[in-house]
Amino acid sequence: MNNPSPLNTLELASYGPVIPVIVIHQLSHAVPMARALVAGGIRVLEVTLRTPVALSAMRAIAAEVPEAIVGAGTLRSAADVQAAQRVGCRFGVSPGYTADLGRACLDHGLPLLPGVATASEVMTASDQGLRFLKFFPATGAGGVPLLKALAGPFPDMAFCPTGGITPANAADFLALPQVKVVGGSWLTPAALMEAGDWGGITGLARAASALGRA
Ligand code: 3PG
Repeated sequence: MNNPSPLNTLELASYGPVIPVIVIHQLSHAVPMARALVAGGIRVLEVTLRTPVALSAMRAIAAEVPEAIVGAGTLRSAADVQAAQRVGCRFGVSPGYTADLGRACLDHGLPLLPGVATASEVMTASDQGLRFLKFFPATGAGGVPLLKALAGPFPDMAFCPTGGITPANAADFLALPQVKVVGGSWLTPAALMEAGDWGGITGLARAASALGRA
């Protein structure tokens, strides 16, 4: 598949305050779910590589929902990167960072949002020229206080907190100057997906799109 020009990962934060972290169990859910999110104002979609249909789902969304900017989550290996790029993903997200993964993303032209949870991990990613990082697992690792502490030595880094983010705490993270967007799975709950309640998912997306607005 021909991928459009590579994007700068920070651009991902310019489309809205939340990136949904999506687990797709049935391929038939992929396109209607993506359309439902787009209808609610959410265009950047992270589809996790955690199910057998994940790659097919990414391919279907990339081909059939042009307003969506689809990325692959849970990247762990160079093979994952290659597979994601082949099905039309525009970006990748990983729970952590390894040099092999970073190299594979460069080789395949896939912009990477790598996970970090400590100062040393921020330094490793920063050494590779990465300035926009996923802060994972956000609440488990230390939440808002840890992110505030990291802002001191790393004023040039931006973060996308993910892991434990909810509609109730998202605004606290979005209030931090180094946080432009958060990630979370609450927009696509398994129960709504199974029920084919696409209107319900659009409603969750619409509410998420409004988060952080003064
Ligand atoms: C994940 O990798 O599963 C994401 O961090 C989502 O976490 P959440 O389910 O707590 O939103």
